[in-house]
Amino acid sequence: MSAAQADPYPGPLPRAGEGASRRLSTFAFLHPIEPAQLQVYLDAFPGVEFLQLDGDALPQGLERAQAGAISWVGPPVDDILAAGRSLQWLHQRGAGIDRIATPALVASDVLLTNGSGNHAINIAEHVLGLMLAFARQFPALLRAQGERRWTPPAAGSLFELSGQTLAVIGAGALGCAVAERAAAFGMRVHGVRRSPASEPPPGFVAMAAMDALDGVLREADHVVITLPLTAETRGLFSTARIAAMKPGAHLYNVGRGAIVDQGALLEALRAGHLAGAGLDVTDPEPLPADSPLWAEPGVVITAHSSGLTPRSYARYQALLLDNLGRFMRGEELLNLVDKRRGY
Ligand code: GLV
Repeated sequence: MSAAQADPYPGPLPRAGEGASRRLSTFAFLHPIEPAQLQVYLDAFPGVEFLQLDGDALPQGLERAQAGAISWVGPPVDDILAAGRSLQWLHQRGAGIDRIATPALVASDVLLTNGSGNHAINIAEHVLGLMLAFARQFPALLRAQGERRWTPPAAGSLFELSGQTLAVIGAGALGCAVAERAAAFGMRVHGVRRSPASEPPPGFVAMAAMDALDGVLREADHVVITLPLTAETRGLFSTARIAAMKPGAHLYNVGRGAIVDQGALLEALRAGHLAGAGLDVTDPEPLPADSPLWAEPGVVITAHSSGLTPRSYARYQALLLDNLGRFMRGEELLNLVDKRRGY
C-alpha cells in the first residue's frame, strides 16, 4: 500500500469540536426498513423528512437527501450517488464495505460510516459455537439423530478447546470479541493484525503483524479469519498459506469468502491436512448448490447468518441515531471508514 493510500480519509466535514451545525432536512433509507423501525427515527428527529425505498426503486426525492443508510441488499451504490446529488454522508449497515465501495463512492466527497462493532457479540458467539460443534462432533451427532441412530462418537474424535491455541486473523472489534470469549474457554489466543499495538488487547496472549502470519498459523489448532475484504486480503489464504497451517487444524471464516482460496481449502480438507472448516461466508454467495464444499465432511456452512440477531439490529439503530445527532451538531461521526483503505 502506498503512503498516499495510507493517509486517513480527508473528509470535507469538520472534526469534533470544530464544527458548525449541519443542515439535515432529508435522510433516505436505502435498505428495506420496517414501519416500527422507521417510527423510531421519526420520533427522534421530527424535523427531518425520512425517505424510504419503494420496493427496489430509489426513493422519490432522493436528490433532496443530505444523508442516507445503505446496505448491500438495496439499490446499487452508483445509482444512489447519481440520483442523490446532495448526499454528504452514507451509513453502511454492516461492517464490510467491499460490496459498496465502488470507485465512484471512493472518489466522491461522500463520507462513509459503517456498522463495525454492532455484530461483534453475535459473530463471536457464532465462532465459539462452530468451535464447540467440532470439539463435540455435533455435525455427526445431528446426522445420526436425523436417522434415529444412537451413535456416540469415538472418544478420540472429541477434543477440548481448553489448552488449545487459537489464531485470530484481524483484531478489530470482532476479533477482540472472539479472543475474549475463547480465552474464557481456556484457549491461548494469538492475534495477527496490520498494525499491532504494543499491548495485546484483552484475551490475547500476543499480537503479531501480518508478516508473521505463517509463523502464527503453524502453531494454531484453530484459525479464525475476521478480516475485511481488501486488495491486500483477497486470496490471503492461498494454497501455500493453508499449507503453512498446523496439520489437523480447523479454519473458520466470518470475514469474506474471497479471502480464502476455496479450491485450496477443499484440497487441504480432502488430503487430511485440515480437520474442518466453519464457513459463514463463501465466494460466491449464495454458495452454488453444486459446490463440493456442501458435501465435504468436516465443513459446516452457516449461510452468512452470524451477524443476525435482533440485538445487533438494536445496536445498529443506536449507532445511526447517535450519528444523526452528531451530523446535525457538526460533530465527528462515529465509525468513519477510510474508503481507500477499505475499512
Ligand atoms: C457482514 O457481513 C458485515 O459486513 O457486517
